[in-house]
Amino acid sequence: MKPIESVSDISALTYGFIASRALFAALEVDLFTHVARGADTLEALAGATGIAANRLRTLLTTLKTVGLVSEAGGHFSNAPATATYLTAGGPGDFRDYVRVVNGGFMYEGLRHLDKALRGERVFPDKGFYEGIVYAEGGVGGPAFSKAQHAGSLGPARLMAKRVDLAGARTLLDVGGGSGAYTLAFLNKNPELRATILDFPQTVATARCYAAHAGMGDRIAHIAGNAITTDWPGEQDVVLMSYLWSAVGGPDIAELARRAFAALRPGGLVLVHDFMVDDAHDTPAFAAWYLLLSVLDNPQAQCLTPGIVEGALSDAGFAIDGTETMLEGITSLTRARRPS
Ligand SMILES: C[S@@+](CC[C@H](N)C(=O)[O-])C[C@H]1O[C@@H](n2cnc3c(N)ncnc32)[C@H](O)[C@@H]1O
Repeated sequence: MKPIESVSDISALTYGFIASRALFAALEVDLFTHVARGADTLEALAGATGIAANRLRTLLTTLKTVGLVSEAGGHFSNAPATATYLTAGGPGDFRDYVRVVNGGFMYEGLRHLDKALRGERVFPDKGFYEGIVYAEGGVGGPAFSKAQHAGSLGPARLMAKRVDLAGARTLLDVGGGSGAYTLAFLNKNPELRATILDFPQTVATARCYAAHAGMGDRIAHIAGNAITTDWPGEQDVVLMSYLWSAVGGPDIAELARRAFAALRPGGLVLVHDFMVDDAHDTPAFAAWYLLLSVLDNPQAQCLTPGIVEGALSDAGFAIDGTETMLEGITSLTRARRPS
């Protein structure tokens, strides 16, 4: 990243959160969908959203300044990316992820960053997720799970396409969450069966998604803690997606040891997570996501391919390598338990 030189570069950073907040507010009233469906004047949008025209004009003006919408002759239109990703029926619609996960969970969570950086607990009486998601006035568990699941489905399909599991019969998805990655791998590999291990509350959600996808009979669930609960053995594949960034340093080594023990010789471990390069320079979004993990856990690590591959190799794995998975955001490390 080129070092910044002007005060306007600093302003862009210090005021950037206002633009983010304007986007979240627009999604709360599904503004871009209304535009897409033809309510494209100030009056029509005021009617559709229930926001008075004077206030809506101010919001729309902010949205214009960041290129989300444009205006010509009193008519508003969505930018190409807005239409694709932020409208109902758009081919890449991820409104819920932006609104609930970015706008609710992350935005609210980051209010506590200073405290978390000092190593203090964000909530004295409960965990970070509980405080932000499940507490009264929080984001809301079902809304959060639904948005998180929707956000994971696309990347999960991408990974299932990229990672060939032909011949594998058993997959253990540790910290599998809603099961998006498991479902994608099972869809792609009809012979595969899976086990999802996650905390009890999450496993209940994963069961619903498995049943909904008609995969209930191919997925077993274990409710527990990945660090202390026994993992089933003789697995062909162990997947850990966004789990290493959620646990602390010592637990990373434990997860690597447990993955090794759970795999049959020749078995494959997949570690998918936010990772910055070994020089800690890029990519920006990976670094930003990793900052969020500090809120969750004071021992969270700024993950790099070197850290991930080092932990796997210390546990006895032969490293295949690390590749970019979601461009500019996540990476995937593959390694094998030697035969
Ligand atoms: C960000 S979510 C990712 C979910 C899923 N792997 C995916 O990629 O969509 C991280 C998951 O790890 C789980 N998790 C974190 N620490 C865990 C632990 N010690 N034991 C079991 N699950 C854990 C969380 O409950 C959550 O479901």
